Amino acid sequence: MSLSRFINTLSGRFLILTVIFVMAAEIMIFMPSVARFREDFLLSRLERAQIASLALLANDSLDMDLEDELLENAGVYNVVLRRNEIRQLVLSSPIPDQIHATYDLREATGFELIRDAMVTLFDPEERVIRVIGDPVKQAGLLIEVTLPTAPLRVAMLDYGFRILLLSAVISFITAFLLFLAVRALLVRPIKRVVGAMTSYTQAPEDARRIIEPSAKVPELREAEIALKVMETELTASLRQKERLAQLGGAVAKVSHDLRNILTTAQLFTDRLEMSDDPAVTRSAPKLVNSIQRAVNLCETTLAFGKAEEPAPTLTGVRLAELVGEVIEGERLSIGDFDLSFSEDIPATMVVRADHEQMHRVLSNLVRNARQAIMATGKPGEISVAGREDEDEWVISVTDTGPGLPPKAREYLFQPFQGGTRKGGFGLGLAISAELAKGHGGRLVLERSDEQGTAFAIHLPKGFSHQDAGEASVNESDPQAAI
Ligand SMILES: Nc1ncnc2c1ncn2[C@@H]1O[C@H](COP(=O)(O)OP(=O)(O)OP(=O)(O)O)[C@@H](O)[C@H]1O
Ligand SMILES: [Mg+2]
Repeated sequence: MSLSRFINTLSGRFLILTVIFVMAAEIMIFMPSVARFREDFLLSRLERAQIASLALLANDSLDMDLEDELLENAGVYNVVLRRNEIRQLVLSSPIPDQIHATYDLREATGFELIRDAMVTLFDPEERVIRVIGDPVKQAGLLIEVTLPTAPLRVAMLDYGFRILLLSAVISFITAFLLFLAVRALLVRPIKRVVGAMTSYTQAPEDARRIIEPSAKVPELREAEIALKVMETELTASLRQKERLAQLGGAVAKVSHDLRNILTTAQLFTDRLEMSDDPAVTRSAPKLVNSIQRAVNLCETTLAFGKAEEPAPTLTGVRLAELVGEVIEGERLSIGDFDLSFSEDIPATMVVRADHEQMHRVLSNLVRNARQAIMATGKPGEISVAGREDEDEWVISVTDTGPGLPPKAREYLFQPFQGGTRKGGFGLGLAISAELAKGHGGRLVLERSDEQGTAFAIHLPKGFSHQDAGEASVNESDPQAAI
């Protein structure tokens, strides 16, 4: 991790802020302690000077050498110790410079002490100062010394550096400890929450990915609990949506086939209008209207989703009869168009299938073929053939139409995608393929070119009710999965 990235992390920021805050706090402490240090330094000089001056009590006059030595030991140029109103002891040696300032320690306030300490610290010139104080043990009225600032300043600088060094060490140790604490208490739990969120986002329907609150920090725990509630609700509503989408799809399929059935019914009602019975002719338009409304309703509903078909109910279906019914229905829509139907189905051939569903599959295929041929305006033929071998029944629907358009071929068997016909929904083939699959079989496009198109339904003989039931156990019980 680069330094700038580290500084931007939560723990990095804590580290740096702690160093800054501890340093600031140390500086606040620094000024009074340096002032205190200066005061102590000066007081000790006064004390030493007082002791030196006491030598005068023994002898009234000292020789010059002894006096110089006493003053040097005390670290001052001269001392005046006033014993009472009249008597005073004086030790003196030559002062190298004039007196720069006088400090009276007896009544200095804390603020003045700090101010004077800062002045001393930041004034690099070597000065001579006079300091006045109370003699120790009430040994007189006052004591006054003159001394150079240089030794005081050196000692103060030395002390200041030590304080700064110490505060730096303290601040780094504090910052590092805080850094570790923040990592353990905040960063790691936050990362865990983020990780849980990411994992949940990848598959929000999966209830196992919902976060399990585990943080010990109460605030984080609250966040985790809130997140858990939200994820639980989201997962539940996602599942419900999924079911609703499937339901919508189921409705769409029902509508599709209902519309086709109604269209056939409409063709029959057209004939009713030509009836000789006036009562029938009178009610026919109403019937036509009602059916038209129903067809419209189905078509509007078709705008919604797709879903699984119910499991087929397998019975023995006489194929020739079934195909006869389908063709019968389609024939009504031809009018006087030159289109012929042919069947090549052994009269005894019986397939095991769901009668209703197989009717829908064949109707879809035959209707598509008829619509394709009629769209060309040229005569054509549709043939339905049935054959069987040991394993399966095969029913093929062949036409002499124009072949599948590229779009239909690309999206073959995909709902709402491959439709090219005006008024079509591109559902017929998708539903048919799905129904064939529900029978354990398949719908295949055998051929499609300018000469025509051939679809074949393959139904396995070994397929049983159980297989059909198992394949769609979830779909048949919508409550089970909600
Ligand atoms: N036998 C065929 N010959 C030529 N084109 C066909 C044939 N069967 C299907 N198609 C093409 O495939 C497309 C998809 O057919 P499908 O039955 O899935 O939908 P549709 O007929 O358009 O609408 P609907 O949902 O009403 O059946 C059709 O629009 C048509 O262009
Ligand atoms: Mg169709």
